[in-house]
Amino acid sequence: MSQFPKDFLWGGATAANQLEGAYNEGGKGLSTADMVKFVPREISQGKNTETVTYEEALEIIAGQHDNEYYPKRWGVDFYHHYKEDIALMAEMGFKCFRMSINWPRIYPNGDDETPNEEGLAFYDNVFDECLKYGIEPLVTLSHYETPLNLALKYNGWENRKLVQFFKNYATTVFQRYKDKVKYWIPFNEINMSLHLPYTGGAIFIEKSEGELQATFQALHHQFVASAVATKVAREINPHFQIGSMLGMSLYYPKTNKPEDILAAQSANRVNYFFLDILSKGRYPEYALTYLKKNHVNIKMEPEDITLLKENTVDFNSFSYYYSLCTCASPENEEGLVAFVPDNEIIDEFHPRKVRNDNLEVTDWGFQIDPIGLRIAINEVWDRYHKPIIISENGLGTYDTLTTDKKVHDDYRIKYLKEHIHQMKICIDEGVKVIGYTSWGCIDIVSAGTSERSKRYGYIYVDSDDYGKGTMKRYKKDSFYWYQKVISSHGEDL
Ligand code: BG6
Repeated sequence: MSQFPKDFLWGGATAANQLEGAYNEGGKGLSTADMVKFVPREISQGKNTETVTYEEALEIIAGQHDNEYYPKRWGVDFYHHYKEDIALMAEMGFKCFRMSINWPRIYPNGDDETPNEEGLAFYDNVFDECLKYGIEPLVTLSHYETPLNLALKYNGWENRKLVQFFKNYATTVFQRYKDKVKYWIPFNEINMSLHLPYTGGAIFIEKSEGELQATFQALHHQFVASAVATKVAREINPHFQIGSMLGMSLYYPKTNKPEDILAAQSANRVNYFFLDILSKGRYPEYALTYLKKNHVNIKMEPEDITLLKENTVDFNSFSYYYSLCTCASPENEEGLVAFVPDNEIIDEFHPRKVRNDNLEVTDWGFQIDPIGLRIAINEVWDRYHKPIIISENGLGTYDTLTTDKKVHDDYRIKYLKEHIHQMKICIDEGVKVIGYTSWGCIDIVSAGTSERSKRYGYIYVDSDDYGKGTMKRYKKDSFYWYQKVISSHGEDL
């Protein structure tokens, strides 16, 4: 049996809007995430609550919703705790810390002429702190924190101007941190724009040319922006490593009926649509056919095709939390909440989701499937043959802090252990997986539901859904377990 490579990037992952807090400090502008209010679970039923309308955004700015609570403004206050938090990561033995730069901390309005020095200095401090412990930062440029002004003024990524604003931002941070950061991801879960236009694309659908048209136009702009950023990155530092990042939606057929197998193949092609463009530099034929059939006319500039072709990524990365299941004809979908709320339209790009009775489901409707991770890794490797980073994986669930300040999260250890084991088999079989950053290594605000009680971390943060609590950090049982996994190079699971 081979082993995890000695330089394997063991670590954890976060996003600025869910972690940092300090939404109005250090010259930061508002982001789209800062507008998302907390909806209690009795009302949300664990479903995604991230969408905001244009009118609501204006009302929020005007102070008409000041009685609401906006958890992503406060995160878990990493902004003031980063030294303590990074020290805890170092204690676990992290080799890598995935985080995002909060775009409006650097360009408060997105279209500013010059960057905000205080924001740049904050990330200098964070990276220096990581490097002090030998922790390699893996940095996402856009993780659902687009400057709000870009959404209000340009309708977000539907507008081509965003490509230039993103280029300015990327160029600024690449230049500033060229000797501190090597691994970069331009867009988190780029496929999210397809399902959640506000979250992923900073788009107000009611202001757009129509949902499908706006979604694919915005995606095209993000693909181009990713290629442009990759080109600039290589000019600034040829040693940079640039990656794709997909929210992996692995589909199984509900039965072995050929119709269901075909439905699953079609559903899985949605993943490859994104990775084919980022990793191979081309739109696949079935996507072009789909767009034509649905009268979607993506406006492209003459140079776009070449840009995409010549600036593909160095590595592929994806998040993996669950597998999905589909079938050709309508079925009862009860019991499956799932993160991606797109069961209203059903077509080639919006597959039907049905329950897989072989798998257990978390309280949030995620079907737990460690073998699915192995299938996903094999698929991505066989298709692209580029190094792979599992940039997110983990179990979001309730934890209890005991009176003696412990968290006995054996359920989380079980989940992670089984997934890491499957990843290890892939490595044994020759797949080049180079890193694993489990999600929410420290408890943070949920992206989908803005809850703090949906916890993923090795480090417990004492704060409830309304931000009440001491914000103190406590080590869970999984903290010590992961420490052992890393120190044994993945041998001692
Ligand atoms: C991924 C996102 O989709 O899933 C993260 O990149 C997110 O930002 C994670 O937090 C888990 O989702 P949730 O809704 O449980 O926080």
